[in-house]
Amino acid sequence: MSKIVILDENTASQIAAGEVIERPASVVKELAENSIDAGATQITVEIRNGGISYIRVTDNGSGIEEDDLEFTIERHATSKIRRIEDLDGLATMGFRGEALASIASISRMEITSKTRESSTGSSLKTEGGRIVSLAQAGCPDGTTIIVRDLFYNTPARYKFLKKDSTEASYVSETVERLALAYPGISFRFIQNGQAQLHTPGNHDLLSTIYSVFGKETASSLIPVDYKSDGYSISGFIGRPEIARGNRNSQYMYLNGRYIRNRILSKALEDAYKTRLMQNRFPFCVLMIRTSPLNYDVNVHPQKLEVRFANENAVHSLVYYGCENALMGQSMIRSFGSGQAEPTREARQPAGIAEPQATPSIRKEKTIRGPEPRQESLFEEKSPAFSLPRFSEKTAGPVFTVKEEISGERNSHTREKKISGEPGPLPDEAPAAEEKP
Ligand SMILES: Nc1ncnc2c1ncn2[C@@H]1O[C@H](COP(=O)(O)OP(=O)(O)OP(=O)(O)O)[C@@H](O)[C@H]1O
Ligand SMILES: [Mg+2]
Repeated sequence: MSKIVILDENTASQIAAGEVIERPASVVKELAENSIDAGATQITVEIRNGGISYIRVTDNGSGIEEDDLEFTIERHATSKIRRIEDLDGLATMGFRGEALASIASISRMEITSKTRESSTGSSLKTEGGRIVSLAQAGCPDGTTIIVRDLFYNTPARYKFLKKDSTEASYVSETVERLALAYPGISFRFIQNGQAQLHTPGNHDLLSTIYSVFGKETASSLIPVDYKSDGYSISGFIGRPEIARGNRNSQYMYLNGRYIRNRILSKALEDAYKTRLMQNRFPFCVLMIRTSPLNYDVNVHPQKLEVRFANENAVHSLVYYGCENALMGQSMIRSFGSGQAEPTREARQPAGIAEPQATPSIRKEKTIRGPEPRQESLFEEKSPAFSLPRFSEKTAGPVFTVKEEISGERNSHTREKKISGEPGPLPDEAPAAEEKP
């Protein structure tokens, strides 16, 4: 007798869900990404008990047609691509047609939605992936999805959840990452009835950084804007003083998608090499844009990893983008040599307004500022730069840096030379310090 059977749809979905949905934060990521794909300008994420018992994501996006509602929880059901070649021009966060099917199969879910064109909305309730009801509903334009009792029918998964506060912090991090990537969308995050984050949605990245990280970080940034060979990089990097003890504050995005990539982190850190002590990691919020033809996003079910076609080009882009920004910043400071440390206003990048009336409800969470440096007795003070001259050896500009060094036991000036050329592409990156 045959021992091999084809699993029923629901069991297959629950297994597939394991790849995409690890914890409440994964649900929030998938739901909010759907809202972004739907063109929302306002997204509210609300959780209770770290999202384990309750998650609600509300948007003012395009909405879902009543006839389409029950398809949303089918596996491989998507409105975003039609064939594999469509990935080459992908403009949306989603494309697998799997997220809602996965979430539905491991929770009690309710989708309420209305398009602008239809006069009434509709609501679909499911339990463990099975439809419980589908009915018309009065609701505003857009979509609200409620996910209750995550993993209630997969105890093995449930067991691995951490305590509510830890899960809540993962959700918070997820919302922050999305908010930074989309300054044109106003994000709200409410935890156990309390507002935690509200970004302005005014298309200004600096205002959004201010809302997420607070004043201290927002006032210690250097703008980055650089293009090369079909790639561009923009955003902000932190002045060396706000470097952190791990890489968790490196926010890098590829065409609006938060990614983790060894080459990008390495290139960023190479640019800071002479400016940071060991085991200090730069803060950054960097947006890389290029044609989807230059990378493959279909590497990982959670889409956190991508494969670049030309890793050297990406390394150079990030390295030179950040190196130029750091150099430019130092040069600007040196022009004021002999004067006092520039005021915050003077340091503010041209064209970027001080965030005004930012609805920042957030406490200064991640803004601990530099941690005490125990490694050195010395404190660096405004380095002054000589005009660049070209070196025959490196064929690149060489800057002589005068650093005034003062410390508890010492005070002197030293000179060192910095070459404008980067070293060869390093093949080893220190292992990322990730949260569990
Ligand atoms: N908030 C929303 N607003 C409008 N349409 C939505 C929303 N959420 C889901 N949809 C519709 O439901 C479909 C299924 O969503 P689902 O997240 O499962 O798949 P996807 O986004 O297409 O791909 P992926 O699995 O990669 O996320 C989407 O293609 C979209 O048409
Ligand atoms: Mg999706």
